[in-house]
Amino acid sequence: MDNVAKLKIDGKTCSLPIVVGSEGERGIDISTLRQATGCITLDEGYGNTGACRSDITFIDGEKGILRYRGIPIEALAEKSSFIETAFLLIYGHLPNHKELRRFSDLLTQNEMLHEDLKFHFEGFPAHAHPMAILSAMINATSCFVPGVLDAYDPEAFESQAARLLAKVRTIAAFAYRKSRGLPIMYPKPVFKYTANFLHMMFSEPYQEYDLKPEVVRALDLIFLLHADHEQNCSTATVRMIASSQANIFACAAGGVCALWGPLHGGANQAVIEMLESIHREGDDGSKFIAAAKDKKSGKRLMGFGHRVYKNYDPRAKIIKAQCDKVLESLNISDPLLDIAKRLEEAALRDSYFIERKLYPNVDFYSGIIMRAIGIPLEMFTVIFAIGRMPGWIANYKEVMDAPHGRISRPRQIYTGHTERPYQPMSERGQE
Ligand code: ACO
Repeated sequence: MDNVAKLKIDGKTCSLPIVVGSEGERGIDISTLRQATGCITLDEGYGNTGACRSDITFIDGEKGILRYRGIPIEALAEKSSFIETAFLLIYGHLPNHKELRRFSDLLTQNEMLHEDLKFHFEGFPAHAHPMAILSAMINATSCFVPGVLDAYDPEAFESQAARLLAKVRTIAAFAYRKSRGLPIMYPKPVFKYTANFLHMMFSEPYQEYDLKPEVVRALDLIFLLHADHEQNCSTATVRMIASSQANIFACAAGGVCALWGPLHGGANQAVIEMLESIHREGDDGSKFIAAAKDKKSGKRLMGFGHRVYKNYDPRAKIIKAQCDKVLESLNISDPLLDIAKRLEEAALRDSYFIERKLYPNVDFYSGIIMRAIGIPLEMFTVIFAIGRMPGWIANYKEVMDAPHGRISRPRQIYTGHTERPYQPMSERGQE
C-alpha cells in the first residue's frame, strides 16, 4: 500500500504522507498542504477530518466496535465498574488493587464541595436547567482549587482530576435538589461512587434512600457506557479548550455546554419526550416514523443514527438488555418501552433507515432505564455528563502531555463581502 498521497493542484504535484493507526486506519497528513499549495481543506462538520492522534478509544463504526484502551466495551460492561473504567481511560491501564484503592480514596476525600460553593446554588432560579448549573458550578469549583491557574503539572493533575470526577456528581445532585426545593444531602464516605450519587439525589434527612443493587448497577453501567467516545462534539470541545492551556475545570465546563445540545447529549431527553408525545397521541409509532422520514416535518427519530456508527451502536445493545432486566427486577411495565421496541422494529425494516444506515444509538433505551429508577427528565443529560467525565479528563491529559502541543486553530473559507467602504449613517437610508 502507498504511504504517500499525491495531490495535483495548478499543475504542481504535492506529496502528503499517509499516517497509519494501530488498527490500520489511514489518514492523509496535510500539515504541509497550505505551505506547499496555498490551499486548505474544507470539511464542514469534520466527517473526514482527524483532529488528533489518540491512544484512548477505538471505534469501528462500520462493524459496531467500541474499545476503551483496547478493551471491548462488552467486556467492561460485564466485568468492570465505572470507577475502574475511569482509571483505565485516564491512566491507560487497568488498576491493580493498590491503585484502585488509592483512586477510590482520592475520590472519597474530594466528594464534598467547599461550603461556600453551596451559596452559589442559591443564585439560580428554580427552573434553571441543571446543565446550566453544572457547567457554571464546575467552573466555579476551580476558584476553590489552589494552584489551578499554575502551568500544567502532571503531579497536580492527579488530585485535580480526582476533584473534578468526585465533585461533578455532588454538584449534579445538589442542582437537582435545589431545582425541587429539597434540602441538600451531603455525600457519605461509606458509599461507592454511584451509590453515593443516588443517595445524594434521593435520600431525605428523615429517610435514607433504599439502595437496590440492581438500580446501582444499572446506573453504574450507564455511566460506564458513556465514559468515552473518541472525538465527539463535547470531547473535541474539551481538547480545543485544553489546547489553549486552560485549566481542567474550564475544559470540563466547556464540555458540558457542548454536550447539552439535542443532537448530542440532549438526545436522551429528546427520546423520552418523543416517546411520551407518541404515547399521548395514541400513535402506534407509524405516524411518527412517517414524519421522521419527511424532511419538511422537522422531526427526527431521536435516538437513531450516529455520525460514526453505520451499524448497531454496541452500547445500545447492552443498554437494551439492561433495560429489560431493570424493568423486570423493579416490576415496572412502561408503555414507552413497548413504543420504543415497536419503533425500532419498524425502523429497522424501513428502506429509509436501512439505506441511510440509521440504527438505535446509546440514547434510545438509556432514558427508559433512568425513568424507571426515578431520575427526572431534565437530569438525563447531566447523567451523561457525569459518565463522560473520565473521557474528557483522559483527553485533557493527552493534550497536556503531548510534547509539542499547539493551540487548535482551524481555518475557514471566507464567503462574505469583499472590501467595501464604511458608509456614513446619513447615507444608509431611512428604514
Ligand atoms: N431520523 C430521521 N432521519 C435521520 C436521522 C434520524 N434520527 N438521522 C439522520 N437522518 C437522515 C438525515 O436527514 C440525512 O438524510 P438525507 O441524506 O436524505 O439528507 C441522513 O440521514 C444523514 O444524516 P446526517 O444528519 O447527515 O447525519 P449526521 O452524521 O450529520 O448526524 C446525528 C448524526 C446528529 C446523530 C443524527 O443521526 C441525528 O440527528 N440523530 C437523532 C439525534 C440523536 O439521537 N443524537 C444522539 C447521537 S449519539 C450521542 O451523541 C450520544
